[in-house]
Amino acid sequence: MGEMKICIICHSESGNTRHVAQHIASAFDAHLVEVTDTASYNRLTRFFVLCKMARGEEKTLIEPASVDISGYDLVVFGSPVWAFKPTPVIHAAIDGLKGCMGKPAVAFSTHSGRPGQTDETFKKWIEDRGMVPVAVTNIHQNDIENEKKIKELVALVSASVKV
Ligand SMILES: Cc1cc2nc3c(=O)[nH]c(=O)nc-3n(C[C@H](O)[C@H](O)[C@H](O)COP(=O)(O)O)c2cc1C
Repeated sequence: MGEMKICIICHSESGNTRHVAQHIASAFDAHLVEVTDTASYNRLTRFFVLCKMARGEEKTLIEPASVDISGYDLVVFGSPVWAFKPTPVIHAAIDGLKGCMGKPAVAFSTHSGRPGQTDETFKKWIEDRGMVPVAVTNIHQNDIENEKKIKELVALVSASVKV
C-alpha cells in the first residue's frame, strides 16, 4: 500500500470534515488539499444563502481553483452536508479537477443527522467528471472521534485502492 498515492480533497467550515480527512491522510500518508470559498457572506443571512446554493447544486469560486490528480491512484473527497447535499465548494473542486478521467474516487460527508441526498449527489458529480465512484459514505458529526467509524472509513479507502 506504500506505493499507492492518494489525494484527499476536502471542504470544511467548522472543522469536522477536516478532522476526518486528517485521519485518512495520516493513515495513508496521503496528500491533503483543503479547498475554500473565496467569497464572503453576510453573517446573518449566511446560513440561508449557503443552504439555497447547496440545494441548487451551485458552484462557488474556490481556492485552489484546480487540483491536478493525474499523479494519484485514488482521490478521496470530503464535504459537510448542507441542505441535504455536498457543498458548492466541493462541487467546484470536483468540477475544476485536472487529470481525473477514469480515476477511482471515494467520497465522504459529515453531518448532524440528516444527510439526505448527499451520497447520491456526490456519486453523480463524480461520474459526471468521468471518475469511478468506488465508495460513497457519510459520518455523523458526533462520530468524528469514534475510532470504530474512522477505522471503517480507512478500511473502505484501502479496499478502494485495490480495485
Ligand atoms: C449551511 C449549513 C447547512 C447544513 N445542512 C445540514 C443538513 O442538511 N443536514 C445535516 O445533517 N447537517 C447539516 N448541517 C450540519 C453540518 O453538515 C455538520 O455540522 C458538518 O459536520 C459540518 O462540517 P464541517 O465542520 O467540516 O464544516 C449544515 C450546516 C451548515 C453550516
